[in-house]
Parts: sequence; structure tokens; C-alpha cells
Amino acid sequence: MNILADTFSRKINYLRISITDHCNLNCLYCVPFGGRVRVSHAEIFSYEEIVRVCEAAVLAGISKLRITGGEPLMRKGVVELCRMLSGIQGLESLTLTTNGVRLRELAPQLRDAGVQRVNVSLDTLRPERFRKITGYNLLSQVLTGISMAEEVGLHPVKINTVVMRGLNEDEIEDFARLTLEEPYHVRFIELMPFNGSSEHQSLFVPVEEMVKRVKRVGDLSLEPALESSGPARLCSLPGAKGKVGFIAPLSYHFCGSCNRLRLTADGKLRTCLFSEQEIDIKGPLRAGASTEELVDTYRLAAMRKPHGHHLNSTHVEKYFGRGMQAIGG
Ligand code: 5AD
Repeated sequence: MNILADTFSRKINYLRISITDHCNLNCLYCVPFGGRVRVSHAEIFSYEEIVRVCEAAVLAGISKLRITGGEPLMRKGVVELCRMLSGIQGLESLTLTTNGVRLRELAPQLRDAGVQRVNVSLDTLRPERFRKITGYNLLSQVLTGISMAEEVGLHPVKINTVVMRGLNEDEIEDFARLTLEEPYHVRFIELMPFNGSSEHQSLFVPVEEMVKRVKRVGDLSLEPALESSGPARLCSLPGAKGKVGFIAPLSYHFCGSCNRLRLTADGKLRTCLFSEQEIDIKGPLRAGASTEELVDTYRLAAMRKPHGHHLNSTHVEKYFGRGMQAIGG
């Protein structure tokens, strides 16, 4: 097994692949200010191309793949793609991040295709708010999708909840209580300044405040750090079946342990969520690059990974690059 390392001795073993920039929801913080710019069909990586670059990734030292979007379950044939990816020799885990809208229907097939776990983005448990935040009235469908995923063994289902002032901060306790009865991992996430809008400061809720609210439900005990928890600090409430996690990209940088590269839907490797630096891998692939050359492209991307990002909760540089829907979180 090869090891992919960067210039700061971080081991890079995790690749997130955005397979589409389309989405069936329209979440407030995801759609870029000024509207979406869609990647044209010809620019999107085909499944054969994705498999080829993922095979090279695993040869380079990547052992974990996560499929993201847009909404990955919107792309036709996604189950077949998962089957092809899970068959790559040397791959240790295949996971997927989804908004859950199509999960009820697809969870069993995804499990059969070798997906080990899913993360579901869900910012509210109230139908009216769900419509306000996402533009659609689909909360109950997402909730059924989540329980279906858990039922078929895509365990533990992780729920990603971006906390926003005035929108859902008053639901933190409700989300925390959900873990008492259900085995889910609910992860509260600090809002990142991603759509170029100046509203970020007024919506931002620091992680300390989230922790305080969760403590109103019960004492929190810290769980041991696991690699599979990524940047989340996991805790649990007394007697809970599930866990509560906190992801604080702005209050506490976790760049020092960042193990990721990202692949955009149009075939560019991104070295950091917050850096606009992209390394083209589709160009070389379409020009007939050998597997060894593709492996070298990952090495180059790893070498170019920045030490960290410079955003913090009081000084937020406006970001006008691609919206999150083109990168996949
Ligand atoms: N800030 C924090 N998290 C975000 N996500 C998307 N946009 C943002 C943002 N601006 C999260 C979603 C999803 C994951 C892929 O990224 O909740 O679960």
C-alpha cells in the first residue's frame, strides 16, 4: 500500500468525489449568491472516468472514498457506480453524503452495492422550516429515508445539521434528544461562509453555544476520538442510543489533521475546501494519461495542500468561488 503524504506530514487517505452539481433541494446556504452556474454535461466526469481516477487514487494511497454532490442520488446509475467503486481492490470504505430525499427508495440498493454508511444533511425537524430552508416540503420523506438507511444497516447514520442563528438554533435540543431514542450520530456544524453572501456574520452560531444548549438536555461525556469521526468531536448523552458531535471549522481549525482531497464534478482535484486551487485530472485523463501519470497527479495535489485555511469566526473573508453544491462539502 502506498502512502500519500503532504508537505506537512499529513497522511492523505480520503477522497471526496462530487458526482454531480445538480440538487433536488435549494438550501439557503448552499446556492451561491447570484445563482447557480451549472457544469455542462460534457464537462461532467463519466462513471467510467470516475472509476478510473478512483482506482488511481487507491493506488496513490487513498483508502476511503465518499460520494457527494450536489445531490449524488440525483445522478442516474449512482447505485451501479457505487458497485464499481466498492469493488476497487484496496479500498477500505465507501460512504455517501445525501440530503436523504431519495434514500427510502435507494438505501437497500446502496447497501447491496457496497456503500457502508451514509451522512444525511438535515437542518430542521419542523416541516414548515424544512420548506423555508430547502424550498421543498419533503421533511417526512427525508426522515423515512434516514430510518430506512439505519434499518438496512447503513449504520450509524450520521445527520449533519448546520446551525444558523434565527433559523434553527432553537432546535439543537430537539436534535440532541433524537439521539436518546435513535442510534444516529447528530453532528452540529458551524456555518461556513460559502455562498459569498454577507449574511454569514448574522447567521453564525459558535460551537460553544451549541454545546451549552445540548447540555440543557443532559450531561455530555466525550467519546474517544476515532478516525471515522473525521473532524467531529463526538459526545454522548446519558443512556443515549446515538451520539452527538460538533464540527467547528471556524472556532477550531482542524486543518492539522486534514486527510482529504476533493474531486469536483467536472474533474478537478481541490486541495482544501477553502482554497480555490484546483488541479486538473480530467484533462490528462481525457488526453490518455497512464495510471502512473494519474497517480502522480494525486501526489502533486497532496504536495500542494495548504497548511490550513485562514477563516475564523470574527474575520471572514468573503468567498466568491464555487458554491458548496459544486464541491460537495
Ligand atoms: N457551512 C457548513 N456546512 C455546510 N454544508 C454545506 N454547506 C455548508 C456551509 N456553508 C454541509 C451540509 C452537508 C455537508 C456536505 O456540508 O450540511 O451535510
